[in-house]
Parts: sequence; structure tokens; C-alpha cells
Amino acid sequence: MKKLKPEYDGREQTGIKHKILRDYLNIACRIVGPKWKKFSYVDGFSGPWNAKGDNFSDSSPDIAIKTLSHARRESIKAGRPFDVQCLFIEKDTRNYRTLEQLLAHVSGIGVKPLNGSFEDEISQVIKFVEGTFWFAFIDPKGWTGMSLKKMAPLLRSRGEVLINFMSIYIDRFITYEKISPDIDDLMGGTNWRTNFDLLLESGSTREQAAIETYCNELKRTGGFKYVKYFRVLTPDKNRTFFNLVYGTNHIRGLEKFSEVERNVYPLQAKIHLKKELAARAQKTKINDLFAEPDEVEIENQIEDDRRWALDRAKADWLEHIQISKQLPYEHALGLFLQRAFVWKSDFHGFVQELVDAKSLKIEGLTGRQKVPNKHCTLVWID
Ligand SMILES: C[S@@+](CC[C@H](N)C(=O)[O-])C[C@H]1O[C@@H](n2cnc3c(N)ncnc32)[C@H](O)[C@@H]1O
Repeated sequence: MKKLKPEYDGREQTGIKHKILRDYLNIACRIVGPKWKKFSYVDGFSGPWNAKGDNFSDSSPDIAIKTLSHARRESIKAGRPFDVQCLFIEKDTRNYRTLEQLLAHVSGIGVKPLNGSFEDEISQVIKFVEGTFWFAFIDPKGWTGMSLKKMAPLLRSRGEVLINFMSIYIDRFITYEKISPDIDDLMGGTNWRTNFDLLLESGSTREQAAIETYCNELKRTGGFKYVKYFRVLTPDKNRTFFNLVYGTNHIRGLEKFSEVERNVYPLQAKIHLKKELAARAQKTKINDLFAEPDEVEIENQIEDDRRWALDRAKADWLEHIQISKQLPYEHALGLFLQRAFVWKSDFHGFVQELVDAKSLKIEGLTGRQKVPNKHCTLVWID
């Protein structure tokens, strides 16, 4: 299990965010780039901001440029060429100047800086990405500047998003009268309130209700088929810092994002346990501040979280199939994978359990095939 670089010390949440961005971009552009011939990356709130590494190595612009340049070179070598163009939007004038310096020496891929406010530049973004497959990273410091209604024309064109939903602030202020116009902007109107209240009434925590409501609204306003989120923790507390919300129309994208999540989760669990050990050492004055959590402890932590997630994913999925009676495989898989911390193998295991219990049958299997694929339909047996 790799460690985060030292520049992320004390702000490991940023390290986790950057790892997800890097790993997913690397996979996504190699799959989609050669098909579309051109891959566009849009950084809506690019910075650089608060970067500590040499040459801004811990900033999203540098990470995207390096990842995409490398992936493109590798793809060309493999005979699957594609072009890359990046648009970086930054509102703050000083940060923008730094951004210009960072971009000055980039070659091989197209890079364009834009000094402005992301949501006010949506028509420019649409022009920029036209005719390409695009991926947008939307990473504000708070909850403003990403009005769902203003973003909708972009979101409804063909592409994917990764949005930083700042739970640490939003959960606290979501029902605060003074900022309700901002929250309505964020959520794309006033409809969200009914859903949020219903979730609270049915026992969801404020945090779950807020993020799930946002995902619903993103799906509706942005027209995405699949939306899922990854919970990034405050490193030294058992509390969410932000959620990274991913939206796509492609089942393969959802599968790949789940794989990235699967790789990143043990790293986050390790960071978290390590911080806990250090806090305990400080309290008890035992000099073991740099103790490393052992692998078993990390595994146990992950299994605890996953058990809960799996139970919920299964219950939700059963509700769907019992109402629909039958589901095409890809849609069925998509419904399941939208839950956090569940993998494709979990889904196949669950389907098999239901088949064994004679509650489900798989139509469209051929020959000795046991595991369903996109040609299959899952049918509920009453
Ligand atoms: C959280 S930082 C971005 C960090 C960067 N994405 C990264 O991962 O390294 C947010 C950046 O967005 C800029 N910003 C704030 N409001 C903005 C807006 N409405 N549009 C574009 N940029 C904005 C800030 O100046 C800041 O540099």
C-alpha cells in the first residue's frame, strides 16, 4: 500500500482527493481517448492553491497535465493515439498568474487558462469541449460558484464530472436561513428540501441526507445515468471532510471509478488509523507517535465499513428488482455500484446467492456461462 507524499502531511484529505483524480483520469482517458480521438479536461476551480510540493506537484493542474501527458504518450506507443486539451479556470488574479506560469512550459497537450468564475464561463466551456469527450473537476473551497442550473447545459452534453461537495460546511449550514439562496443554487432549485426532509424523517443522518439529496439533484438536473460519491475523512477525526461526487452516463466509467475507490480506501483507512494511534500515544504520553497500524487492523476497519455498505446496497437493490420485476444487466449493476464501497464482484456474488435461493433467474446466458453480462436480463421470481 503506497503512502502519500510528505507535501500532504497535515492535509491528507487533499492527498486522497488527488489520488482519486489521478487514478481515475489515467484510466478514463486511455479508454475513452482513442475512441473519441480527443479528450478534454476541465478544471473549474483550478488554483494552484495551498500547494506545498516542488513546482506545484500537489495541485490539480500539475497532476492532470502529468497524468494526461503520460497516458497519451503510452497510448500513442500502443498504436491508439488521441489528443488532449485542458481548460483551467481560476477566479483569483494572483492564483491565475501562478497558473499561467505553471502552464507556460507545457508541450504535447493543449492547455488554456481562463481568468473568471466557473459558473459564469459555462458557455466558453461548452465551446471548448465540443466534439470531444470531456471530464470536469469541480473543486471549490465552499458551496458557492457551482450552481447546478448554470452548469446544466454543460452537464447535459456528453461527459463526466468529479465534484467536491464540502460536507464539513454544507452539513452544518444547509438549513441556515441566511444562506438558503446559496444552497438552492447549489442544489438547482428549491425541490431538494422535500427529499432532504424525507431522508431525515426516515432515519438518515444530516450528512447522509445532504449528500444523497445532492446526488439526486445532480442526476436530475445534470441528466446523469449514474452518480456515486466517495467519503473523504478529516484525517484525525472520525468525520467527513468532503464527498467526491462522480457523475457519468457510462457503466464502464462507473465500474472503473469503483475500482479506483477500492484501491484508495485502504490508504485512507491506514492514514486514519495511524492518526488515531498517534493521538492515543500523545494522550498516554507513550512515545509511539509514529506507530504504523498493522494490516489486520486496517482490514478489520474496512470490513466493518463495507458490511454496512453492502447490506444497504443489497436492500436497495432488492427494492428495485421487486418493483421492476426485471432489469437489464447493465442497469442492474449500475443501481448496485452507485452505493459506496461495493464492488462488481459483490454484485455478482449477490446475484448468485439469489439465483441459488431461486429468487432470481438470469435470462440470456449462453453455453456454460454463469456470470451475467450486458446481453442478460435479471428476472425476479415471486
Ligand atoms: C480548493 S481550491 C482548488 C484546488 C485545486 N483544484 C487542487 O486540487 O489543487 C479552489 C480554487 O478556486 C478558486 N476559485 C474560487 N472561486 C472560484 C470561482 N467561482 N471560479 C473559479 N475559481 C474559483 C480559488 O481562488 C482557489 O484557487
